Amino acid sequence: MTENNDLMAALGGKIDSKIEEVCEKYLSGPAILVEAMRYSLQAGGKRIRPILVLLSAEICGGDEEKAMIPAVALEMIHTFSLIHDDLPAMDNDDLRRGRPTSHKVFGEAMAILAGDALLAFAFELIATHYQSTEREISLLTKELSSATGPSGMTGGQVLDMTFEKSAKTLSDVENIHHLKTAALIRCACRMGAISASADKIKFDALSLYGQKLGLAFQVVDDLLDQTSSVENMGKNVGKDHGGKPNYALICGDISQTRQRAETLIAEAVDALSIFGNKYQPLIHIANLVLKRKS
Ligand code: IPE
Ligand code: IPE
Ligand code: MG
Ligand code: MG
Ligand code: MG
Repeated sequence: MTENNDLMAALGGKIDSKIEEVCEKYLSGPAILVEAMRYSLQAGGKRIRPILVLLSAEICGGDEEKAMIPAVALEMIHTFSLIHDDLPAMDNDDLRRGRPTSHKVFGEAMAILAGDALLAFAFELIATHYQSTEREISLLTKELSSATGPSGMTGGQVLDMTFEKSAKTLSDVENIHHLKTAALIRCACRMGAISASADKIKFDALSLYGQKLGLAFQVVDDLLDQTSSVENMGKNVGKDHGGKPNYALICGDISQTRQRAETLIAEAVDALSIFGNKYQPLIHIANLVLKRKS
């Protein structure tokens, strides 16, 4: 366990360094835009998605350094989604990753533009700075664009914004969660597999793992919104009252919600069985998602 925690910390540190490196080398533009992009990117998130890219590549026999560009690109997309999620027109939040949100520091227009720029920069990284075949670049672009776009995260955010509580079932909520959150987490695993030229059996297993883990991740986020504290989370809690598709609120029962998250995590771990169930880091991440306090 300690070994796995050390590994997570080490991988998180490598991701942070790579983010710094690509910003130094490749990020240019108006100073205020670059500052806003870096402010949110380098606020120190958990880096779960890029870590999943690296570990998924590794389990398929791939090279960690090669998987770094897709990993960092995905963290840029995730950061863009958080900046926009916090905007007054969306969740209207003033705290993120323990800091004032982008629009509180830079104003709304610059926060929107920093999000736009991170979205585009992610694809620039893959198209221009990922050292591999045209085919792999194209496969990664396809994965990342579909997970981000109308049938992925952005589509899910639309359903989240237009959600009306009346007569909604838990399966309606799960559908939203699949899109707004699981799409990018599943994408992390799939991009890792692609960068390792994995075969279809491994690709499909990691896809299923990512989907189950991603759904569990948002169910736990909903649970923490109801039960945790701003100090632990680095973002406001109790924000989902008032019409949000929060699993715990729609379910009306905290222990049933926890039970659902536990089942999903067990299913995620099961999906790894083709690897012989001995690959501890991915199992460890699944358990961390369940136990996380931030
Ligand atoms: C927050 O994601 C948004 C959700 C999908 C719930 P994380 O909890 O991974 O946020 P960071 O990256 O650690 O800040
Ligand atoms: C966020 O869901 C999903 C995204 C695509 C960013 P939430 O709105 O629940 O995320 P938090 O709680 O603000 O991090
Ligand atoms: Mg939201
Ligand atoms: Mg939010
Ligand atoms: Mg939330």
